[in-house]
Amino acid sequence: MPSNIPCVCSIIGTGSYMPERVLTNDELSKIVDTNDEWITSRTGIKERRIAAENEATSDMGSEAARRAMESAGVKPEEIDLIIVATVTPDMFFPSTACFVQKKIGAWNAACFDISAACSGFLYGLQTARHYLNSGNRKTALVIGAEKLSTLVNWKDRNTCVLFGDGAGAAIMRTFQDAGENVPGRILANVMGTDARLTDLLKVPGGASAMPVTAENADQRLNTIHMEGRETFKHAVTRMLQASEEALQKAGLTAADVDMVIPHQANHRIITAIADRLGVPPEKTFINVDKYGNTSAATIPVALDEANRSGAIKRGDIVLLVAFGGGFTWASTLLKW
Ligand SMILES: CC(C)(COP(=O)(O)OP(=O)(O)OC[C@H]1O[C@@H](n2cnc3c(N)ncnc32)[C@H](O)[C@@H]1OP(=O)(O)O)[C@@H](O)C(=O)NCCC(=O)NCCS
Repeated sequence: MPSNIPCVCSIIGTGSYMPERVLTNDELSKIVDTNDEWITSRTGIKERRIAAENEATSDMGSEAARRAMESAGVKPEEIDLIIVATVTPDMFFPSTACFVQKKIGAWNAACFDISAACSGFLYGLQTARHYLNSGNRKTALVIGAEKLSTLVNWKDRNTCVLFGDGAGAAIMRTFQDAGENVPGRILANVMGTDARLTDLLKVPGGASAMPVTAENADQRLNTIHMEGRETFKHAVTRMLQASEEALQKAGLTAADVDMVIPHQANHRIITAIADRLGVPPEKTFINVDKYGNTSAATIPVALDEANRSGAIKRGDIVLLVAFGGGFTWASTLLKW
């Protein structure tokens, strides 16, 4: 598609998949020194999903992709780009996107993964948008999928109560000169990174900087380490900033937003952002109570649930906003 012809990039279908196994706060209180009251009041999380041992990130991502293809009315052979955002790949390589291709039979797709922690899905959407708008690709499948249960230190109550497994997916396409009539239209994107803060949220061991040894595995250095309070503050500041920038780029204000679908890490972070933006609770989508923080999967899962439940409707202005390790942040403004 030549760049001088106006084109509109759009999400034409969504899907999600959550593993069957539910892990409640009460069950967790039998593993570490915690309780339902503490977890609920500090985070809003009541339960999370845990993938089966033989269920890899690509299995969850592929099921979410099948559901997204069905909702978009797209066949696997029409997909020519697969991007998987994940910090819990099936293997270091091949990429998880390659395994998704194999599982869904999307043989015409080029495949790669994106690592931007909890902002990964929105980084993926923005990457795909550029491929589509340049005319390089026609139909993209973007997935956020995580098996965080494999990265959690189940002896650390500071972190193990926060995370869960799951996957969400979106199908994207461009429409030439189709203007206002295209649903799921992307109006604006924002991305940012502050790598001075890499130490606040990380998995220090298990890769090239610190290959696994019996000793560091014993110290659980290949699991999630987080400075909770500092992370909380940056999450609020950056998600607010990313939201305001996206609205400004699109020439809109918070009053125009019909639904905010934020990264689901903590109920208190979500309400702090909504309050400061001036968006009322009924216009803020929350499912962190059911799933905890599934990193790159939270936004596509929430977008799919909002779409299928009718919480967002055709023509609504929808604001997606994320924050994660790096630190990274991103926002995407949609006209649904
Ligand atoms: C992790 C988080 C919930 C902790 O809440 P908090 O109000 O900041 O709590 P604190 O860290 O101050 O800890 C308070 C106390 O609770 C204790 N505590 C921590 N986890 C606990 C748990 N699961 N159960 C019971 N007590 C716990 C701490 O040990 C501490 O005890 P102390 O005061 O005796 O030392 C919160 O900081 C947070 O959500 N941070 C952001 C996390 C996030 O979103 N990460 C991902 C971003 S993508």
